[in-house]
Amino acid sequence: MSKISKCLFPAAGYGTRFLPATKAMPKEMLPIVTKPLIQYGVEEAMQAGISDMAIVTGRGKRAIEDHFDISYELEQQIAGSDKEDLLGDTREIMSRCRFSYTRQMEMKGLGHAILTGEALIGDSPFAVVLADDYCVAEGDGVLSQMVKLYEKYQCSIVAIEEVPMEETNRYGVIAGELEAENIYRVSRMVEKPDPAEAPSNLAIIGRYILSPDIFDIIRNTPPGKNGEMQITDALQTQASQGNVIGYKFQGRRFDCGSVDGYIEASNYTYQSQCNPS
Ligand code: UTP
Repeated sequence: MSKISKCLFPAAGYGTRFLPATKAMPKEMLPIVTKPLIQYGVEEAMQAGISDMAIVTGRGKRAIEDHFDISYELEQQIAGSDKEDLLGDTREIMSRCRFSYTRQMEMKGLGHAILTGEALIGDSPFAVVLADDYCVAEGDGVLSQMVKLYEKYQCSIVAIEEVPMEETNRYGVIAGELEAENIYRVSRMVEKPDPAEAPSNLAIIGRYILSPDIFDIIRNTPPGKNGEMQITDALQTQASQGNVIGYKFQGRRFDCGSVDGYIEASNYTYQSQCNPS
């Protein structure tokens, strides 16, 4: 049985909703309190037993590589002070994980970003984390929950949540049969449908487990909504073969790709980590 040992982080998007902050800085480096979004994603992957982090970057994203590397001057500066602990989690990540990077040269959509990661992933099933979807859970993280589910189903898995019907045009939306509690066998997926055309209000969020045949499928899927290569369209091919599970995860997701979601996540995290009452 294949184990999930690699996680792909598509992080090449422009992040235009956060301009001017994202003019020269990657959206994935925006902090929730003091930790960048991408670090939360990496920690969630580590908790799921993954140690190979494959990051798809683009122009202006070098700060991500620097973040997961040694900074000699800085470390010398804080050595022996009480600030040393502030880098403890980051050091732990660097000692336990291997990072690899590739660049998406043209931003042709999430499907294209995932295809760009093929060289780093190879021919095994893998996880995908969109770091701008920040997830919190009380017990197992969302990716850990999905890795466990993969052990049973051995096919692609998408994390889903119920959204207000009027917001379906912001997500990929699924139709499917309830197979067990919180688990759907997906039959159809539509990218950003108008509420009137949406098959349900079950929206795909930024956590996936994908079987490696997805790369060939993406290559053979024509561009979809907005002329972009959509991962939802490629997953539809797997879904029509009965090979996609939709999983209503335990926990909470914040859409940190939007300013409102980002502020909400920051307030929530500050309250729970720094100011517990
Ligand atoms: P978004 O739809 O949030 O797009 O991408 P964006 O460009 O990052 O942000 P806005 O809409 O301009 O504010 C969802 C995820 O897919 C990645 C993004 O980095 C983000 O994690 N992505 C998207 C790519 O890596 N490449 C692409 O071509 C498109």
